[in-house]
Amino acid sequence: MSALAINTTTAIDYTEMEKVPAHVVFPELFEPSAVMIQRRKNRHPDCIPSNPMYIPDPEVAKLALVWLVAPHQLLSLGLQGHTGTGKTELALYLADKLNLPIYIVKIHARMNPQDLEGSYVLDAEKNKTITRKEYGPAAKAYRNGGVLLMDEFDKASGELTSAMHLLVEGKPWPLEMFKETIAKHNQCYVIGTANTYGSGHDERYITSNQMDQAFLSRFMWLETQYPNVVQESKILEKFAPRLPLHLRNDIIKLANALRDAALGTNRDGDIDDPIQCIFSTRVMIAWAYYIQTFGAFRKLKQSLDAVFLKSVTPEDAGIVKDIVEKVFGDDINKPLKDLLAKK
Ligand SMILES: Nc1ncnc2c1ncn2[C@@H]1O[C@H](COP(=O)(O)OP(=O)(O)OP(=O)(O)O)[C@@H](O)[C@H]1O
Ligand SMILES: [Mg+2]
Repeated sequence: MSALAINTTTAIDYTEMEKVPAHVVFPELFEPSAVMIQRRKNRHPDCIPSNPMYIPDPEVAKLALVWLVAPHQLLSLGLQGHTGTGKTELALYLADKLNLPIYIVKIHARMNPQDLEGSYVLDAEKNKTITRKEYGPAAKAYRNGGVLLMDEFDKASGELTSAMHLLVEGKPWPLEMFKETIAKHNQCYVIGTANTYGSGHDERYITSNQMDQAFLSRFMWLETQYPNVVQESKILEKFAPRLPLHLRNDIIKLANALRDAALGTNRDGDIDDPIQCIFSTRVMIAWAYYIQTFGAFRKLKQSLDAVFLKSVTPEDAGIVKDIVEKVFGDDINKPLKDLLAKK
């Protein structure tokens, strides 16, 4: 879909902007005030609604927003953080609120440059077979504007990383496939998400690749963290309002105890013999959800097994079991109905 789409009666200019109070668009980030923010006036068909349950971390989200609304993006935006810290959600949230179309490219090791650029496809026209140019999602965002989300880009091969240099720098980008060079649209925003800073050989993220400094230095990096206790309580309250407060609090307590054992109390990896498994916000939400769907007569342990414990390696299993026992005691082997009755 091009930036200027013609419908039968009027042409919609998707690059037209409007000024709106910042707290109206981002009630989670701004108190009511006179601060205004510019966003696209018309919503493009390639816009994607974001997760209504998502509650952004105000500081990281504001910095990402500063990058987005600045007159120029000298660097692409790199969101780095552990799995399930909300990197992908943050990109989707910002694009949605600003009415920007978003093009997601899921990067993987076997992906090649053509997957970013596009390809020729066969099509039928007036009973004839014709060849049509079909731009890939990255080329679409680059040409027409919108957020280009290169998700998990630390999984890229060296070949793919080299092919992305000009793209992440905002330079004219030669598409080998079409023998054509495209310029970056002034409303194209390139965001990459990664679990690592491209260090390679990460014990926890074994499919992450090494990336060279030349590539990494083309990004402005923001680090996403697991939400703090207050934020996670709000997330769980929104997500699982029917679970009793004491149970929601214990779920959060367990999440944090396991993160302490994996990442250290400062979440900076400064810990001897860390466990490798991660109890992310994703897992926390999934557990709260499945506690409810497993029903009143199933034990908490059954849903925890299903969403987390079964995927824990034998090396971590003993420590994880001890932590679960320490936080939940006997409750972990009780059915939900007993815990609903508890005050
Ligand atoms: N701040 C938050 N508010 C509400 N839900 C959240 C938040 N952060 C994470 N989640 C939940 O966790 C899930 C994972 O988030 P997301 O996919 O953005 O993580 P990620 O950092 O991109 O992880 P990965 O590195 O594994 O791709 C979301 O689908 C959402 O349910
Ligand atoms: Mg992600």
